[in-house]
Amino acid sequence: MTGQIEFRRYLVDIDSISTHQLFADCLVIGAGIAGLCAAIEAAKGRNVIIVCKATLEDSNTWKAQGGIASVLDKTDTFESHIADTLNTGCGISDEKVVDLVVRQGPELIEQLLRWGTEFDMADGHIATTLEGGHTHPRVAHAHGDETGRIITEVLIRKVRQIPNIKILENFYAIDLLTNDNNDCVGIIGHDKRVLQIVWSANTILGTGGAGQLYRETTNPEVATGDGIAMAYRAGAILQDLEFMQFHPTTLYVAGASRALITEVLRGEGAVLLDKNGSAFMKEYHESAELAPRDIVSRAILAQMLKTKSTHVYLDVRHFNKEHFAERFPLINELCESFDIDVSRDLIPVRPSAHYMIGGAKTDSTAKTNIENLYACGEAAATGLHGANRLGSNSLLEGLVFGKVAGHEASQSTKADVSHIKHPRIKYQIPHSDRTRLDTADIRNSLRALMWRNVGITRSARPLIEAQEIISFWQRYVMDKIFDGPAGWECQNMLTICQLMARCAQMREESRGVHFRSDFPNADDENFKKHIEISRGK
Ligand code: SIN
Repeated sequence: MTGQIEFRRYLVDIDSISTHQLFADCLVIGAGIAGLCAAIEAAKGRNVIIVCKATLEDSNTWKAQGGIASVLDKTDTFESHIADTLNTGCGISDEKVVDLVVRQGPELIEQLLRWGTEFDMADGHIATTLEGGHTHPRVAHAHGDETGRIITEVLIRKVRQIPNIKILENFYAIDLLTNDNNDCVGIIGHDKRVLQIVWSANTILGTGGAGQLYRETTNPEVATGDGIAMAYRAGAILQDLEFMQFHPTTLYVAGASRALITEVLRGEGAVLLDKNGSAFMKEYHESAELAPRDIVSRAILAQMLKTKSTHVYLDVRHFNKEHFAERFPLINELCESFDIDVSRDLIPVRPSAHYMIGGAKTDSTAKTNIENLYACGEAAATGLHGANRLGSNSLLEGLVFGKVAGHEASQSTKADVSHIKHPRIKYQIPHSDRTRLDTADIRNSLRALMWRNVGITRSARPLIEAQEIISFWQRYVMDKIFDGPAGWECQNMLTICQLMARCAQMREESRGVHFRSDFPNADDENFKKHIEISRGK
């Protein structure tokens, strides 16, 4: 990358004294489970603003199906959930963080229940089910496979009832603002076609994931990694960017977007078949359908290649039809919309990008290396997931670390915006007369490139080539000043994709979700650690 691209601090020209201004003790960017929980906690005594790029309903949390993992069953133990999380994390999870998240889970899930979340119940207790990598059924769910929607609706209702939380929807956060000490002092964003500054004593990044960096993804359109890119420009340390988790089973109907088909189906007995009707998973792992996700994803790809097919199938024909419709209403409806009768037909599936393990590095109090800046949820790298995430641990992480971030931000000694000095921020980007490229076209090509070259199976040559191609696009896109979210999103996507490809090239081993065909084994001596990256380093 050239100096200009690498070191451009802001995406837009700024003169803070002539820009619209708002003030918050605590500013939360993003409205998934982590952002909403952070806002609820911070509002105990502080004025909070939540901004989100679309509506409160547009998040990965909303789309979550399987559920939220926690020790809820009397025969389960914290030690077992901790061990499963660490095993799946392949040796690089932060044990302190795992312990914290697992132990806080039951209490916070009980709180969700008290707030009105209609979890599915069995014998008066929250019902739990199984997903891959869990040695005990501990995945709680609500309205069958509508867990994300049900939880988000409860949290949205709650934030709307709290008078000192102001919500700004369709507000695109462009950049974090920092003062001369590089402390975060708020953001510059785009609200109803004008630039808007929000000065804040503390800022919490809960901007979610980045599945849209890939052609095939379960994520909503908003998940373009903006928060991670803006943290990078502000000087935050990013960690684990090479770890993108692919979900083994998303509906494959050519031309339709890739909808999630929850892993819980396999947890409850669905079988993967190839196009010849053969159940192939036992050939790849003794746990078959319930092997960790990275193994199932690679097995599906290998079987697709072996059988020269674009997809495999999930077989749920043995499920009771009425039970299926009640237990998985979302998937049932989705399949029906494509004339797939799950009691007679197989469900066509293939893997797609699902969950960004990497993000802004935080400690166990959700703090980043930038003063007054916290991160939680998918935008953060807390170390919980190590090199691979255990299914349904992400809603749990968002619940726990959202609360931690909100608490820390509201209790910090500098939690009141009236005590904060606002610097004048003036920033001017030099004009560039290089050719304009079509950013919509670049976005599509970038997503295809990431799928091909930085996907489920990686190796050096394609990773280097991806960086070269992205650098070329960056020369023509990063030097421009855009006046709307489409352009800024494209700049953010190019930034994060470049860094992901670079980190994937650096990790010359295979661990968890990162599989290198040229280094197929784990190399503990050199890589049992995290890769950190920050601007200029
Ligand atoms: C699923 O329902 O399979 C997704 C759950 C998760 O990604 O944690």
